[in-house]
Parts: sequence; C-alpha cells; structure tokens
Amino acid sequence: MLKRPVLAANWKMHLGPVAAGEFMRSFLERYKPRPDRTVIFFPPAVSLASMTAMVRAAGRTDVLFGVQNIHWAEKGAFTGETSAEMAKEAGAGIILVGHSERRHVFGETDAQCAKKCLAAARVGLPFLLCVGEKMAQREAGETAAVVTRQLREGVAQVPNLISAEFLIAYEPVWAIGTGLTATPVDASAIHTLLRSELGAMIGTRAAEIPILYGGSVGPGNAATLLAANEIDGLLVGGSSLDVTTWIKIAES
Ligand code: PGA
Repeated sequence: MLKRPVLAANWKMHLGPVAAGEFMRSFLERYKPRPDRTVIFFPPAVSLASMTAMVRAAGRTDVLFGVQNIHWAEKGAFTGETSAEMAKEAGAGIILVGHSERRHVFGETDAQCAKKCLAAARVGLPFLLCVGEKMAQREAGETAAVVTRQLREGVAQVPNLISAEFLIAYEPVWAIGTGLTATPVDASAIHTLLRSELGAMIGTRAAEIPILYGGSVGPGNAATLLAANEIDGLLVGGSSLDVTTWIKIAES
C-alpha cells in the first residue's frame, strides 16, 4: 500500500531524457528520502528508462515512476503506442489512466479507460484513474454525475476490484493549467462523494484508496489542499517542472 500523502508529478510532454536526467540528479541531491509519503514521477515514456536506472544506481527506493498513458493490448500493430508490459519493463511502477488531456484532446472514452485499467491490473501494476468535470458540466450542476460515471466505468473491468491496488485523482478540467483551483472545501466535497461511491463498490476497503487532487496546484496552495478532508495527495503538472518548486510541494 502506498504511503499517504501521495505527491505525483505529471510532466506531460516536457523533459526528454537529457533534461529529465538533469532534473533527477538535482532532485536526488536535494530531496532526502521521507518515509511518511510517496513521491511519484510521470515523465514522458522516452525518459522513463534512464530515470529509473539513475534512481536505482543511487540506491533510492523512495521514488516511484509511472507512465502517462498505455495501450490496453499486450503488443501488436499499434503504431505509436506503449503496452503496460513494456512500461513495466522500462521501470514503471504505476500507470496513469484517463487524464483530462487524454480524454478531451485525444478523445479517450470511459470504455477505453476501462480497458487500460484492466491492462494495468493484468501486469500487476496499480493504476491512477483521473476523473473531472468540464466547466460547462460544473455550471450545469453535473459534476457529481460526471465524476461518478467516470469512476464506475473506469474500474468496471478490473477483476477483483476489492483487492486491486489503485488510486483516483479528481482533476476538474477547468482547473488544469489555468491557474484556477477548486477551493479545498469544494475539492473535499467531491473527494467525499468519490469515497462514498468507492464504498458502494468495495466496502471498507474504500478508505485505503488514495484520492488525489489536481489542477493548478503549486507551492502556495499544496499544504492547504493536503490538509483538507479526504484529500490524500496531489497530482501536479506545471509546478512539477521546476526542481525547486517541485521539492517545495513534495515536502508540503
Ligand atoms: P496543472 O496540471 O498542475 O498544470 O494544472 C495538473 C494535471 O494535469 O495533472
């Protein structure tokens, strides 16, 4: 089970192998292992193998790596795609599924997210499933319906969900990369809703599933968000790209 809080950096399409290596060298020097939390990096897939090798060589087991996306098939004629098996081989210990940019820029559906969560489970890796409403859905009062549907449909194919290892991230689409953040009270309310939805699916085990918040998190709001009820961690985009800023957040 992952230690909470979970502080996860989503680098998106930033930091190729060279820049990622420089970042990591500096991070390992300056961030000392802390047994009271989990730190995760989701670098671009091409940067993953060299980063995991660097961390292994440094003898650091306190940092976990993941991929930002996978294809659900094990292998095949899927140009441009990476399977869960390959991600695992390159050092991934976790798989991000259904990030809002995957859903809304690349048209990923709940059914595809479900197949990706299943693929992660197939290789024995935890998945981090992202859910979140768009501004128009929020304004139409549809937030609860959208996030519960994304949650239910996303995990629908995972066998033995009750014993599967996974995490959820609530990332309101309107807050991602915009400088707008859900207030801790608003975020808490959605996290509570997601927890109770999980409870309906997996009973008391729901309490063990980390629910992260994401969307314009920075060093100025990280601690307040983490202190809010039911927020077990943070998924951070823009503010994870600068090593000093990221260390501040990781130490919140
Ligand atoms: P942001 O991105 O922190 O830049 O808003 C968060 C995310 O997309 O996971």
